[in-house]
Amino acid sequence: MSILLAGGAGYIGAHTCVELLNAGYDIVVADNYSNSQPESLNRVKELTGKDFAAYEVDVCDKDALREVFDREKIDAVIHFAGYKAVGESVEKPLMYYRNNLDATLSLLEVMQEKGVKRMVFSSSATVYGMAEKMPLTEDMPTGGCTNPYGWTKCMIEQILFDLAKSDPEWTLVLLRYFNPVGAHESGRIGENPNGIPNNLMPRVTQSVIGKIPPIYITGTDYNTPDGTCLRDYIHVVDLAKGHVCAIAYAMENKGAEAINLGVGRGCSVRELIRAFEEATGEKVPCSDGPRRPGDAPVSYADAGKALKLLGWKAEKDVVDMCRDAWRWQKNNPNGYDA
Ligand code: UD1
Repeated sequence: MSILLAGGAGYIGAHTCVELLNAGYDIVVADNYSNSQPESLNRVKELTGKDFAAYEVDVCDKDALREVFDREKIDAVIHFAGYKAVGESVEKPLMYYRNNLDATLSLLEVMQEKGVKRMVFSSSATVYGMAEKMPLTEDMPTGGCTNPYGWTKCMIEQILFDLAKSDPEWTLVLLRYFNPVGAHESGRIGENPNGIPNNLMPRVTQSVIGKIPPIYITGTDYNTPDGTCLRDYIHVVDLAKGHVCAIAYAMENKGAEAINLGVGRGCSVRELIRAFEEATGEKVPCSDGPRRPGDAPVSYADAGKALKLLGWKAEKDVVDMCRDAWRWQKNNPNGYDA
């Protein structure tokens, strides 16, 4: 069984490569390295002792994609290829809509041409917008996103649901990720954000090594137990294993399903920072600051559907997430650059 990972050299993609290879799947990667490095794939090979083909291809380029499908035997696709920086999407909405929608449509059209009708898509909990009822279940309404990045996820979900309705041969699994953090426990692959990171965990690790200035806890007056926002942080290796289960599911089922991948518990910013300090013995340089515009006070998953349909649940805790994120950061202060 051979799986094409579009955007497979990125943070979640590389971890998924490892888990698929360890589970006995063959893989093929297509990535234009616009926000990733081929070095991540070298490390996947080193970690697994397995080889695979990687094509430097822009997923928006249908001719290049056709060539990949002609050269390789592909049974299903995992679609990670897309821009993902929330702030940048507000500044460059056209770039985000063009790239994320185009990549998806090109991939789906070529898959249809080649008769490969199984896709697992990287969606996001961001599709729930500013929902107030927790935990978030997959049947809750989507939309009301606060930025173009989030809207691209919503729009792509709609495209996938419409496609499944039009043709019962398709299997489309929409994985709604909560907050992926951490790194492979080897410390060889991890998150390698471009420039100054926006997300909490890479900001924590980079502030500790002094790469960025001390951070702020953005909002301490929310209506939550300690006043800081609650998020459902999930270890990237658990998330990657969720993709392996989604692929197994896609081999046996038809239709479109949205499935949350989260732990199912809200963890506050203060709690995460405390866990980091306990797990690593390092002090996180931080102070209380104002709210960050567009932040939902609370977001966590009902993870029941993933257990029921995929037989998957997260196993690692916040201490594992912090310890592994720190090991990666310490061992690779410049990411994949030597
Ligand atoms: C953000 C995006 C979301 C995207 C996800 C990817 C927004 C509004 N949402 O989610 O669309 O799918 O990243 O992982 O940007 N925080 C601090 N100090 C900091 C940075 C963050 O206290 O320096 C807090 C935030 O207020 C938030 C929590 O940490 O409460 C997590 O923030 P972050 O890692 O950016 O994730 P989300 O905002 O949940």
